[in-house]
Amino acid sequence: MSEWSQALSRHVAAEGGAAPTISGNRGLQIEEALLFEQDSPGRSGVDLPEPPPVKTRLGGLERQGAIGLPGLSEPQIVRHYTRLSQKNYAIDAGLYPLGSCTMKHNPRLNEKMARLPGFADLHPLQPESTVPGALELIGTLAHWLKTLTGMPAVALSPAAGAHGELCGLMTIRAALTARGDARKRILVPESAHGTNPATAAACGYTVEAIPANAKGTENQGRVDLAALKAKLGSDVAALMLTNPNTCGLFEDEILDIAAAVHAAGAFFYCDGANFNAIVGRVRPADLGIDALHINLHKTFSTPHGGGGPGSGPVVLAAELAPYAPLPWVVHGPNGFELVEHAGGSAQHTIGRLKGFHGQMGMFVRALTYMMSHGADGLRQVAEDAVLNANYLRVKLQDALSVAFPGICMHEVLFDDAFLKDTGVTPLDFAKALIDEGYHPMTMYFPLVVHGALLIEPTETESKASLDQFVDVLRGLAQRARGGDAENFRSAPRFTPRRRLDETAAARKPVLRWRPDTEHREAAE
Ligand SMILES: Cc1ncc(COP(=O)(O)O)c(C=O)c1O
Repeated sequence: MSEWSQALSRHVAAEGGAAPTISGNRGLQIEEALLFEQDSPGRSGVDLPEPPPVKTRLGGLERQGAIGLPGLSEPQIVRHYTRLSQKNYAIDAGLYPLGSCTMKHNPRLNEKMARLPGFADLHPLQPESTVPGALELIGTLAHWLKTLTGMPAVALSPAAGAHGELCGLMTIRAALTARGDARKRILVPESAHGTNPATAAACGYTVEAIPANAKGTENQGRVDLAALKAKLGSDVAALMLTNPNTCGLFEDEILDIAAAVHAAGAFFYCDGANFNAIVGRVRPADLGIDALHINLHKTFSTPHGGGGPGSGPVVLAAELAPYAPLPWVVHGPNGFELVEHAGGSAQHTIGRLKGFHGQMGMFVRALTYMMSHGADGLRQVAEDAVLNANYLRVKLQDALSVAFPGICMHEVLFDDAFLKDTGVTPLDFAKALIDEGYHPMTMYFPLVVHGALLIEPTETESKASLDQFVDVLRGLAQRARGGDAENFRSAPRFTPRRRLDETAAARKPVLRWRPDTEHREAAE
């Protein structure tokens, strides 16, 4: 056995089967250096002629040295970005069970429509007379959102769910101010998405938490109505409730909640990010909601990767509608028209929340999704999302521990009771899932259950794909109970990088590449 082979077998044994290779690559997973590390001074992907000499007008302030960009050929750059894209796990690559985030398939038809030159090449400063089609699209999207929610008005400009929350609370504050009834507190259930209390605090309100009914009690995982009633008072501006909530449960006392909030003179804000579970079946207006944001990226399939661009329209009840942010589209005798300035019908607006009209590309995608599904298709989407989550719940309930009994909505919540005394944490479990080729589920959220594992399969996964996922989760749970903690702690083992020190990564992030001396000298 050669020296290399011996070293290799030693390493194989130490790494539990993962052998080092001569190249450092693993199969077709190719190690990728930073572009700066691939720098070859003088190399270039373009061949430009020498610029003609020009008289400098910078008075000696011009840069003397090279600007320090790496020298790279076109094939190097193409390979670099292609390899990086291949390291990226995405909904187009496989099941993406991240609860609360709704990583659903983005139909290619949406993309085709968004790329039509008539939409893609629009300029936001074009005269209104040249964009009747765009205005009609915005007006039609508004019509769909109002119809699906039963609400009379919609603000389309907010750029994401959290921005929609800001919009909703600003309209509520404006309505209270107009009433001469400035209030100071906002109530937020413990199971709320973190953006809810953050938005309320950013608007200057005092945030107070409402507990959820504890495990094993009646209506567990849902808002404790008695605790809510005890907190309501004449200085409460609003309740911010997520429904379906982040435990994946429908708040079935919602009519009583709405009545209590209104009896206290407060507004009922609903985080409608999970509208994908009820679209076509429940109209938020019928639940007594005054303002609700919808994440187009979660419900209407616009892309939700890499942080954006999102879109979070807010539907408003009649009392809040006059305060909606500009601009909005109206339909009159002259067709669709834009209301852009305060005054007249917009005398009470809170003003602008965003440049221009919002995320036009997302409007095109969302409306395409709505029209290609139709009203019955959207209803089917919600039903299938709920069916898929419940399929997982039932198939996994004896292997993992379901946090709350009974039917769930679009996502199913497990706690870490099934890992008790195994030495395996939810984090280890999630890392082991990566080795099996799956993006982990959402972990440790919501905070109302211990060691939460929140899974949202979405409606677009087939039964075969769910069954495969179930087999993997059941297998991992069995291994955890079989005393395999050591292997769990060392997962992931088949990724380009092993487990990172997440605390160090958060506390001492290395965000900037610094050239070594050789590079610095070359750059100077
Ligand atoms: C329940 C809930 N509320 C609010 C948000 C915030 O939405 P965004 O990320 O678009 O700001 C999310 C995001 O997924 C969510 O799940």
